[in-house]
Amino acid sequence: MRFRDKRVLNGLDIVIEDNKATVIMGRSGIGKSVLLKCICGLLVPHKGVIDIDGHNIVTASPRKAKVIRSAIGMLLQEGALFDGMTVYENIAFPLAYHRKHSPAEIDREVRRYADIVEMTPFLDVVPRELSGGMKRKAAIARCMITQPRYLFYDEPTTGLDPISAGTVDTMIKKLSDTVNITSLIVTHDVDLALFAGDTVALIEDGRISVIEARAEFKRPESELRTRFIEQREILHEEYHANRK
Ligand SMILES: Nc1ncnc2c1ncn2[C@@H]1O[C@H](COP(=O)(O)OP(=O)(O)O)[C@@H](O)[C@H]1O
Ligand SMILES: [Mg+2]
Repeated sequence: MRFRDKRVLNGLDIVIEDNKATVIMGRSGIGKSVLLKCICGLLVPHKGVIDIDGHNIVTASPRKAKVIRSAIGMLLQEGALFDGMTVYENIAFPLAYHRKHSPAEIDREVRRYADIVEMTPFLDVVPRELSGGMKRKAAIARCMITQPRYLFYDEPTTGLDPISAGTVDTMIKKLSDTVNITSLIVTHDVDLALFAGDTVALIEDGRISVIEARAEFKRPESELRTRFIEQREILHEEYHANRK
């Protein structure tokens, strides 16, 4: 992927396994959000193939791309809810918008997904009265109500306090363990990756530099974790070097 003369992703190659949770880590600005947008066809890379169930979304017609995209739910960075709507109305929105369902069907589905994300007691509440973690959980239910096969999370815990982040980690893990869904989680939160990732990959210089299965990543000497944490240490060292 390139923006004018700036290369962002370059030769990135990864296979996402069905019904597993894959975590993609990398420092800010490395191209994590760009990657998710390319996979759902919101951005078109200059080169390469993105194969989703045998269809290359890069070369697909707009109509075909729309069909492919309908299998994907995306929790955007910040998980933005509609301010003027209650939790119930927010979760109902994707179904209400398409006008293919009766009010009774919508009601059943809203309650089903609110129950899964443990937000049933808050259905009549508006977003400004919710904690950060609850907002994200409501946004997850809103993504899930269309029953996507793929669920993409863009930094689902960023900006949350540790306890709220913990409730979001737990929810992501619960969904990936109990619902037939393939999750792709983009984050720089090591705790989230440790808890929810079946596979963890690191992006460096536009490509995947290390990929580890859960068991490997959990070991204290994990190469991926070491490299990710080193990036921060390198910045600290550069700071000291520049001050001399
Ligand atoms: N639409 C765009 N036009 C130009 N540059 C962009 C665009 N989207 C992202 N970028 C650039 O691509 C790089 C990667 O961005 P992004 O994927 O948002 O990073 P992150 O890993 O933090 O999610 C950044 O340098 C960003 O400025
Ligand atoms: Mg981003």
